[in-house]
Parts: sequence; structure tokens; C-alpha cells
Amino acid sequence: MAQIIDGRARAAALRARVAAEVTELRQRTGVVPRLVVLLVGEDPASRVYVRTKARMAAEVGIEGEVERLPADTSEQALLARLAALNADPSVHGILVQLPLPARIRGPAVLEAIDPAKDVDGFHPLNVGRMWAASRPLDAGLLLPCTPLGCMMLLETVLGREGLRGKSALVLGRSNIVGKPMAALLLGADVTVTVAHSRTRDLAERCRRAEILVAAVGRPEMVRGDWIREGAVVIDVGINRIETAEGGSRLVGDVAFAEAAARAAAITPVPGGVGPMTVACLLYNTLLAARRQLGL
Ligand code: GUN
Repeated sequence: MAQIIDGRARAAALRARVAAEVTELRQRTGVVPRLVVLLVGEDPASRVYVRTKARMAAEVGIEGEVERLPADTSEQALLARLAALNADPSVHGILVQLPLPARIRGPAVLEAIDPAKDVDGFHPLNVGRMWAASRPLDAGLLLPCTPLGCMMLLETVLGREGLRGKSALVLGRSNIVGKPMAALLLGADVTVTVAHSRTRDLAERCRRAEILVAAVGRPEMVRGDWIREGAVVIDVGINRIETAEGGSRLVGDVAFAEAAARAAAITPVPGGVGPMTVACLLYNTLLAARRQLGL
């Protein structure tokens, strides 16, 4: 039976460190880091996520605010709001929750965020810096929160040294998870394959991976016999499915019980990657604030 990787505990430890450093920053400079999360429209999952982000921010002493904009907000109005937040020195971190309504051009919005305040690490300048760095994890960059959290969980199991030379398969090629995950693994000397919906022989490729990161958003798509014996499995999926009793529950992209019978270590859903993503956002907000203060 696999080791269950405790994302809640690892995230709590990171938040405790952020809280201590936020206190130190406040005592030294009088500045309280401030994060503004913009939510356009009413996507129900997004509403839950942004509320969690604001609540967790408050717990570590970061001023976290959710700004809710109506679903019919124009791209122009959103860009104008971002320009005002960019110009406001009391705001250190800006996050626009995705997905955006289809009318609004996502890339135009992400490019309108000041790269210094881009706590998601989605601005093309930050994406470029991440790919260009030989050791992105040690370069003091604003890195995308979910892949950063996945790397921290992998390090708890394997250590930095243990990652070196391993083979990884990243299942999913999104800008939010799959692509930056590949960049961070590569920067840790892992040999990386990125697979996606058009990849042939997917199960066979997964079975060869010593590290498997699943980020496709398909409930329990990865079966037990896709897992290499002794692999480390990171499940990024958060899928709500209906139960036979008429309720619902959260499952990952990996069939957990089947995979746990073969893996050396695996993240649960919930309680794995999810809490790390939020903790990394708070870490990025602290980092962004420090940089803006010239520290
Ligand atoms: N939607 C799902 N994941 C994320 C994320 O990490 N950042 C933002 N902004 N939106 C998301």
C-alpha cells in the first residue's frame, strides 16, 4: 500500500512559514501584503475557490479581497480595472480567476497584469523567465501555484536529489498546470514527457513513468494498471461526481484505490494538491510584496 502524501499538512507548514514572514515584514516595514482576486461572472467552482483564497490569506496576515464583477463585464472594463490595480502601490498581488467568460480574451487579460504583481505566474514574461531559468525553483520567480505545489509534494517524498534523473509523465498540457509542470520538472533534472488527449498508447506510456502527474480533469481516468510499480503519483484533478445515493463527492483524475495498490506514494483528493495551490499563492503574494519593497 502506497504512502499517502499529506497535502494538508505540507500546506499548513508552508502557511505557517508565510505567516511568520508576513509578521516580520510588517514589523520591519509597516507594510501588509495585499492580494486582490478578480472573479468575473458566477462559475460555481470558481466562487468556492476564490472564497478559500481570501480566507486563507486572512489566516496568514495577508489582506485578501475578492472583487466580483458581473458576467457581462466588458474586456475593456476589466483591462481598465487591472490598470488601476497595477498603479495602486498598496496592491502587491493580482489574480484573475479562470476560466473567463468566452467573450473576454484570456491572453489579453493576463498580459495586462503587471508582471511584478502576477502571483499566478501566467504573464508571458513570467512564463518566459520560468522556461529560461536553469533552476526555476531557486531563481526567486513568481511560478504558477499548482505546479509549484506539486514540486513541493514531490520533494517531500523524493527529496531534490531523488528527483534527479527520474522519468516523469505529465498528463495534460494546459497553461495552468501541464506546461509549467513540465518546465519545473525539467529544471529539477527530471526527464519529462507531456501527454494529452491525442497521445497514442497512453496507458503504456504512463506505465513507464517513475513520476506520474495527472492534470486532465477527467474523473478517475487513470486506472490502477496504468501505474508503474513503485511510482510516485500526483493527482491534480478535482472532479465532482454523483454518487449512487444521490449525493456527490470529489474524485481525482486517478482511480485512487487501484493506483494506491501499486504506487509507492500518491496524493489523495481532496487533501493533496488542492491545499498546496492556495498556500503557494500566499507564498507568491509575500514574494511579490517583498520585491516591490526592494527587499
Ligand atoms: N482556475 C483554476 N486554477 C487556477 C489558477 O491557478 N489560477 C487562476 N487564476 N485561475 C484558476
